[in-house]
Amino acid sequence: MKFLILILSITYVTCHNIERRYVDNDVDEEGYDWEAGPPRYEHFHYAENGEIDFAPRIIGGTPSWHGEFPAKISLQTRAGAHFCGGALIDLRHVLTAAHCIVTEFGAVFDPNAIRLMGDDLSIQRWGSGSRQLRFASHIFAHPSFDMRTYQNDIGVVRASVIFIQTTTLQAMPRSFTTPVDNVNCNLAGWGVTSETNTRPHPILLRVELQIIAMNFCNGTQSFHGSIPDGSLCAGSLDGSRDACFGDSGGGLMCNGQIAGVVSFGFGCGRRNFPGVYVDVSQYNGWIGSVLIFQGTQDDIPRPPIVPSSSSPSMFIFAKVITIALIIFTSLSH
Ligand SMILES: *[C@@H]1O[C@H](CO)[C@@H](O)[C@H](O)[C@H]1NC(C)=O
Repeated sequence: MKFLILILSITYVTCHNIERRYVDNDVDEEGYDWEAGPPRYEHFHYAENGEIDFAPRIIGGTPSWHGEFPAKISLQTRAGAHFCGGALIDLRHVLTAAHCIVTEFGAVFDPNAIRLMGDDLSIQRWGSGSRQLRFASHIFAHPSFDMRTYQNDIGVVRASVIFIQTTTLQAMPRSFTTPVDNVNCNLAGWGVTSETNTRPHPILLRVELQIIAMNFCNGTQSFHGSIPDGSLCAGSLDGSRDACFGDSGGGLMCNGQIAGVVSFGFGCGRRNFPGVYVDVSQYNGWIGSVLIFQGTQDDIPRPPIVPSSSSPSMFIFAKVITIALIIFTSLSH
C-alpha cells in the first residue's frame, strides 16, 4: 500500500510537472519566439531502452464505432500503455511517425519494447474479445528523420506475426497523391482532449479535419516557414477540431486512403494553427522498400543519433516520469 501511495504521489508530481512544463513553454500566437525554432507538440520522449511515455489527442471529436477505422492500431509499451497511433498498411506493417519510435536522442527503439493492438475501440487493459495483440519484430524509422525540424517524421513497425483480417480489422491503401486543399479527411485517436489534460482517452475518438492550404499553414499568420517539406496541414482554422498528445503516428484518412501521419502541432486546437502531417504520398518509395526488407533489425538504415545536451540528472528524472506514467496507466485500467 505504501508503495502504491508512493507511486501515485510520484505520478501526481510528474504529471503536474509535465503540465507545468507545457504551460511554461506556452506562448501566445503573437509572442512566439520564431528564432528559437518551430513550435510543436510537446512530446515527452524520456525513453532509453524502449520504455516510453505517451506523447500528444483528438480535440472536438466524437466516439467512433467499432470497425469505422479498421486500420487503426495503438502502439503500446510491452506492458500495455498506449503512447502513439498507427495505421495498418498491410496485415504485417503499421505506418506511424518516426518520433513515436525513437528516443529523444534519435536512437530507434528495441522492437521487444513495443506491442501493437488492433481491432479494439478501447485501450484499457480488458478490451473487447476481438482485440488482436502483436509484438514487433522490426522497427523502421525514416533514415533522414530530422529531430530538429521533424522532416521525414515517418516510420513503420513490422509485427512478428501477421494480423488476422476481420470485418473490423483491415489494412487500408496508402494515398499516392497529395490530398487537395479543403478536402474533408478523418482522424481517429486515443490522445488527450485538451492541451492541459495528460491522460489518454480510453475510447477511440474521431474528428473530421480539412486539408489546409500550405500557403496559409506555412505563412506568417501560422507556422511561418517552419513546415518541413514532405508535410501537409489539416485541421480547422478556428481551432475547434485538431489532433493532440497521444494521437501522434495516427493515419489521416482522406477518400478511404491513408494520406497523412500525425506529426506535430503548435499546442492543440489553437486558432490558425492546424495540425501538421507527413504527406504519405511523398514516401511511397521508402515505404515500399520497407515492406520487402529482409534483413535483421541491425541491418536497417537508421537516423543519426543526436548528441545529448540534456544534463544527466534531467535524464534520470525523465526515466522516473516514464516509469511512473506506465505504472499509473496500468493501475488506472
Ligand atoms: C515552408 O517555408 C519554408 C521557408 O520558406 C520552406 O523552406 C519550406 O519548404 C516550406 N514548406 C513547405 C512544405 O512548402
